[in-house]
Amino acid sequence: MWYFYSPGIIYGEDALDFIENIPGQKCFIITDKIIEELGYLKILTDKLNQFGKEYTINTEAKPDPHEPDALVARQQCINYGPDLIIALGGGSVMDTAKLVWALYEFPEMNADDLHPFNPELYNMGKKAKLVAIPTTSGTGAETTNVSVISRLINNIWKKHFFLHKSLMPTFAIVDPIFPKGMPKNLTMDTAFDALAHSLEGITSQWKNEFTNAMALKAIELIFKFLPLVLKDGNNIEARDFMHQAATMAGLAFGNSQAQLAHTIGHSWGSVFHVPHGRAVGVALPYVLQYSLNIVDENNKSEEILAKVAKQLGWINWDQDNKIAANMVIEKVKELQKKIGFPLSLKEIGTPKKEVEKNLDELVTMCFEDSTSVLGPRSASGEEFRKLYLYAYEGKNVDF
Ligand SMILES: [Fe+2]
Repeated sequence: MWYFYSPGIIYGEDALDFIENIPGQKCFIITDKIIEELGYLKILTDKLNQFGKEYTINTEAKPDPHEPDALVARQQCINYGPDLIIALGGGSVMDTAKLVWALYEFPEMNADDLHPFNPELYNMGKKAKLVAIPTTSGTGAETTNVSVISRLINNIWKKHFFLHKSLMPTFAIVDPIFPKGMPKNLTMDTAFDALAHSLEGITSQWKNEFTNAMALKAIELIFKFLPLVLKDGNNIEARDFMHQAATMAGLAFGNSQAQLAHTIGHSWGSVFHVPHGRAVGVALPYVLQYSLNIVDENNKSEEILAKVAKQLGWINWDQDNKIAANMVIEKVKELQKKIGFPLSLKEIGTPKKEVEKNLDELVTMCFEDSTSVLGPRSASGEEFRKLYLYAYEGKNVDF
C-alpha cells in the first residue's frame, strides 16, 4: 500500500475566481506585510468583497515563522471563528496557517500534538477549510502536510517539523497573477527550491510512480521556463508554468521526501540566515554527487537520474547510466551558471571563519533534521562535515 495526497488544485490565469465556489463566508486571512504592500492582499480582498464573503486579516506572518507569533495568530483565529482560513503568501505564511488551522480545529492541543501518530487530527476541517494561495513559485507548501515553525532552543531558533497528513490544505489556488511580480533573486531562489524538491523527491527512498511523474514534469518545466521568466518577469505564460512546476514539485516531495540538500540547506539557513531556496539550491549538485558515489541495490540514484536525463532528451537512451546520471548534475550546474545563481556556499557570502566556528553545530543540526533519513545514502557526521566544506569551496564530491 502506498498513498498520494493532494489538495484540490485550481491553477492558471483567473484561478483566484474559484474562491467564489468554496463554501464558507467568514474568512481568516493570514499573510505578511510585504504581500500587503505589494498590493496582493487587495487583489484577494477585492475578490472576497465581490463574492460577498467577510474577512479579518492577520499580516504578522514572518519569514522562518516563530512559534510564539503563530500562537498569537491562532488566538486571533479562535476569537474570530472563521469557516475559511486563507493563507496568502510564501512558505512561511502557509506554514503558519497550517499550524493556526490545526490548533483552531483542536484548541485543547499544542504544537507538539501535531505529529503523524495523532489519530484525532484526521478529523480536521470540521470548523474551517484551509485555502492556500502561493505568491512565490517554489516552496510547494500549498501541497504539503508539514508546517515548519521555529522554536527557540539554546538561543537558536531551530526549525521544527509539525507533520500530519491532515495538515494538507483543502484547496491550493495557483494563480500566476501573484508570482508575476517576484524580483529576480526571489525567482531564482524559489525555483531552485522547487528543483531540489523534484530531484530529491525522485531519488528519495519513499519515491513512487505518482511522485516520479510530478517530479519529472516539474524538472522539465523549470529548465524550460526559468530562463524565460528571468529574461521577462511579465511573461505570464512562463510564470504560469513555473507556478505549476513548483506545485508539482511540492506534490513530488510532499508525498515522498526531501533529503540531504534540504538537511544542509535548513541548518545553513538557520545559522547564517540565508534564504531557504538559495542554500538548498547550492547544496543540490553536491548532494546528488554524494548520492551517486555509491551504487548498490539500496541506492538506485544512478539508474533514476540516468532515466531523468534520457526522458528529458538530454542524452541518448543507449548511453551508459553513469554518464547519463552525471549529465543531470552538469545540467543543474549549467543552469546555475546561466542565470547567475551561486555555485558554492562561499559565493553566498559567509566568511570561512564563521563556517569553521559553527561547523559542529551545523552537523548536529543535520541529525536533528527529519530530511536526513530518507535519502538514498545516509551521511555520517564526518561526511556531513565534508559535504559542507566541499559545497563551501565548490569542490566535486569524491567520497
Ligand atoms: Fe524546500
